[in-house]
Amino acid sequence: MAKPPSSRFVCQSCGAVHRKWAGRCDGCGEWNTLVEEAPPEAVPKGVTAGKGGRRIGFVGLKGEGATPPRRSTGIGELDRVCGGGLVPGSVLLVGGDPGIGKSTLLLQATAALATQEAPPVLYISGEEAIDQVRLRAARLGLEAAPVLLASATSLRDIAASLDGTEAPAAVVVDSIQTVHADTLDSAPGTVAQVRTCAHELIRLAKRRGFTLFLVGHVTKEGTLAGPRVLEHMVDTVLYFEGERGHPYRILRAVKNRFGATDEIGVFEMSDRGLLEVDNPSALFLAERRGNVSGACVFAGIEGSRPLLVEIQALVAPSGGGSPRRAVVGWDGSRLAMVLAVLEARCGLALGGNDVYLNVAGGLRIQEPAADLAVAAALVSAASGTPVPADMVVFGEIGLSGEVRPVTQAGGRVREAAKLGFSSVLMPTTPERGGGRRPGGKARPGQGTGDGGPSAG
Ligand code: TYD
Ligand code: MG
Repeated sequence: MAKPPSSRFVCQSCGAVHRKWAGRCDGCGEWNTLVEEAPPEAVPKGVTAGKGGRRIGFVGLKGEGATPPRRSTGIGELDRVCGGGLVPGSVLLVGGDPGIGKSTLLLQATAALATQEAPPVLYISGEEAIDQVRLRAARLGLEAAPVLLASATSLRDIAASLDGTEAPAAVVVDSIQTVHADTLDSAPGTVAQVRTCAHELIRLAKRRGFTLFLVGHVTKEGTLAGPRVLEHMVDTVLYFEGERGHPYRILRAVKNRFGATDEIGVFEMSDRGLLEVDNPSALFLAERRGNVSGACVFAGIEGSRPLLVEIQALVAPSGGGSPRRAVVGWDGSRLAMVLAVLEARCGLALGGNDVYLNVAGGLRIQEPAADLAVAAALVSAASGTPVPADMVVFGEIGLSGEVRPVTQAGGRVREAAKLGFSSVLMPTTPERGGGRRPGGKARPGQGTGDGGPSAG
């Protein structure tokens, strides 16, 4: 029989276990994320034998509790991302880069919740001292909100406090990487610690029926376990994104057992904390300069909401060697595909040029529907011809050069009309999902070979 390994190496990004140390994790491909950890206790023998177990009761699919009660957080954009408010007993993981605004968002949310809730709302900070959190609350003008604040990192203390008192309505643990269980040898922030602490806190939340927010830093170095190792344990995973230097912050639901995923909330970081953005399209287009080549307005859909953003392209002669391809806010391999289609199907060869692509405002787009807008921006940049300022563009591009239908064409066109755009470059075929083609002054793409308004 094989001897059990005396220690193991756990990837701090994805949690994969390796027998030997390696520079790169086979599981997720991240570099320098393997950390040696003591092996977990062996599973006691006979657990699977079924002796001494209780019979579980089975019930029908219909019954009470099918639609969970929802509690508004008092922040509309956060409610939207959660699927219409907080579900008691649910656990939300809020991940994001350090300094992006997770603590600020959750302090604002707890303050808003505490003002409308009778049971206590607790904020447990493991990263900041009480005075620091108070200072932030004062800066945000929230010091009067009846939030109960504590600074703690011991899982034992936190669990005892949450179990002993009146059941809270909501609890924030900021961050899960600072909490540590004294039953484990590994350091705070390792996969074993983060999993054990989260597991214990989640069990408490389910048993006592409070909403639990776990904050998780996304780390590059691999010294701390990333929030990904917790994604499968929680009900809802929210990521807080944004580009440094831009005030806009996007809260994105990537998993939600109680609502739609891919829903986004848009915030602006100001000197008085995070402000909700009611009209994100207007915000993302605010700095747009008309009549320049290489810019194109894409009519996108984020979650259930249409969103207009400007896509900017720059095509410059390459200085020799392999040409540069730099993308901010979109998928690099998707750009390569659009460039290949432009070359093979439209005769626009950019192989000797550097190509830069940027989604203005710091938004990250994932939709293939942006293909046509990217192509239009590239063609415009290469030819020096501006895309008409009153035009929005959307459509997926196939490898044979065809422009394919996308979902919710009607919503996209309506949002564009609302913001004063009068023409649309879009696929000719009816929208995907059997929807109706919108009316209005649409300028459909010609299908095969139509790379953009000034192609050819
Ligand atoms: P923070 O919530 O501490 O980030 P995280 O918890 O994700 O690490 O946000 C810190 C950043 O936000 C910091 O760079 C300062 C900025 N900020 C403002 O711009 N305005 C404010 O009112 C607050 C509280 C923070
Ligand atoms: Mg913080």
